[in-house]
Amino acid sequence: MPSSTTETIKEKLDIVDFLRGYLNLQPAGKNFKAICPFHKEKTPSFMISPDRQSWHCFGCGLGGDVFGFVMRYENLEFSEALRVLAEKAGVELRRLDPAEHKYTGLLYELNNAAKEFFKKSLTASEPAKKYLAERGLKKETIEEFELGWAPNAAEALTMQLLNSRYAPEDVVRAGLALKTERGLLLDRFRGRIMFPIHNHVGKVVGFTGRVLPQFESADFGKYVNSPESPVFQKSRLLYGLDKSKNFIREAGNVFLVEGQMDLLMSWQAGVKNVVATSGTALTLDHLHSLRRLADEIILSFDSDSAGSAASERVIDLAEANDFGVKVVTFSDFKDPAEAAQAGAEKLMNAINKAVPAPEFYFGKYLPAKTEVSSGSVNYSDRGTLNNIRFVLTKLNSITSPIERAFWMKELSKRSGIEDRILLEESEKVGLPKTDFSKDASEAAEKSLIGQHKYSRRELIGEGLLRAAVAKNDFSLVEDCAPYFADVHGKIFKILKTGSRKSEDPVLDELIDFIILGSENPGDKEVTKLKNELIKEHYKDKKLFLARAVQSAEKEGNEARLRSALEELNNIPLQVFES
Ligand code: UTP
Ligand code: MN
Repeated sequence: MPSSTTETIKEKLDIVDFLRGYLNLQPAGKNFKAICPFHKEKTPSFMISPDRQSWHCFGCGLGGDVFGFVMRYENLEFSEALRVLAEKAGVELRRLDPAEHKYTGLLYELNNAAKEFFKKSLTASEPAKKYLAERGLKKETIEEFELGWAPNAAEALTMQLLNSRYAPEDVVRAGLALKTERGLLLDRFRGRIMFPIHNHVGKVVGFTGRVLPQFESADFGKYVNSPESPVFQKSRLLYGLDKSKNFIREAGNVFLVEGQMDLLMSWQAGVKNVVATSGTALTLDHLHSLRRLADEIILSFDSDSAGSAASERVIDLAEANDFGVKVVTFSDFKDPAEAAQAGAEKLMNAINKAVPAPEFYFGKYLPAKTEVSSGSVNYSDRGTLNNIRFVLTKLNSITSPIERAFWMKELSKRSGIEDRILLEESEKVGLPKTDFSKDASEAAEKSLIGQHKYSRRELIGEGLLRAAVAKNDFSLVEDCAPYFADVHGKIFKILKTGSRKSEDPVLDELIDFIILGSENPGDKEVTKLKNELIKEHYKDKKLFLARAVQSAEKEGNEARLRSALEELNNIPLQVFES
């Protein structure tokens, strides 16, 4: 938002002075450097330039101005960061004429109105109340978390909002209604138990809605979520954090669960230091919000295979970011919600028996202790050998050498293999193959909906597609199509044929979103967007190659190193300047 207010704030707040409040700055010529707060490192690669009033980390590639720093560090929305910084700089906010401010304000307002509507509908729906009671939820919990019910009608909420004089486009933009092909508005949530999702300051920013079990069907999700919006980004939100943050701080650890029901039932059972990822992959942003509150994660995901794979990902990501992780497993229940429903003590017992992550891996991948002690394990068997190697990679991701050494000893006891030999093997196997950088970019490509916040490349791509739709001229963006993020490349191909539908409901939703928001920004702006898109494309590529160089160096893979460096050479120079 290029407003004079942000400029005034930036003029008054010197970035160096400001960052001193957060980081330990060391002079580096004209500039300053520090240990980057956004990724793990031992030597400072976080640079601050007083001339440009900006920061850039050469280790993780992040950078920006004071606003970008505060938003990321404190996990704030832009409007919140604006408030914080304006106060620090002593700048009056009233002079601001922020279209954006008004727009996000409207999104909060609409979500809040919807929440009130759903709450009221719940009091009138016997089946919904009956279902919640059957799941074991008490009235106080339902009220505290403001659960509701979306009536099974085409436009119950929409009508109410339109009658309250909200504009149809805004109701759609808030994700509460969908526009059909014939231009009619339809409630997004119909016949569902509604769980409002609050941001960390307690404002409702979206919903997830669960269908009643008697209507569950393979044709649509058991849970439906609000679409991503400027106020609702699943990759940054943790369900329940607004209520649980002080409990987490007190406990010094956080009980991390998957679903809304898991969270509510845990809370009700007295486990209040709890948050839920709401079924999305845990992200670095999530970890960052938790970091300031706790340094240990007690993980309890579903006991099915999907839950178990998700657990491993969380463990590896959290350990690589210096969280201690313990894992809760249930033998008799599918998830924490079920355990808590069977009795608060069942959940408590399981939590008390949580095992450190390495032990969880031993239990999952190593032969049973009895087999080891009876000497019946055959270590020349490929399967067994590979499992040991796999566990070694997991131990390699533990950041503390003392802790790592401890677990190597344990592994030696557990496997009957001498630690000297384990150590030798461990040097060969490297780190876990979980490649988070790839994960993150894949999620970004896949999703937009419900998964990941928009990358710049996606925002720009979307803007260009909106312009093409508004002009009804797809040749307009033909030349920059190769630079689109995957998802927009696909959408472009579909739109170009004159169609507005694909096989993929996620794409369809995005197409709707683009068409609904279509606007023609003018030729100059389109040219600017195209240039930026190309620049972003190369930036992404640069980041990817920089990582490839790093890992090729680590592995001593000469061939890969050479080819990555060569590709880096082919990136236009301007990309390195920004
Ligand atoms: P689960 O499928 O484990 O739900 O998804 P659950 O908590 O066991 O659900 P109940 O107990 O049957 O009600 C965990 C979380 O993943 C998200 C939801 O946030 C859910 O709470 N989810 C699940 C979705 O977003 N969409 C889905 O279709 C399913
Ligand atoms: Mn579950």
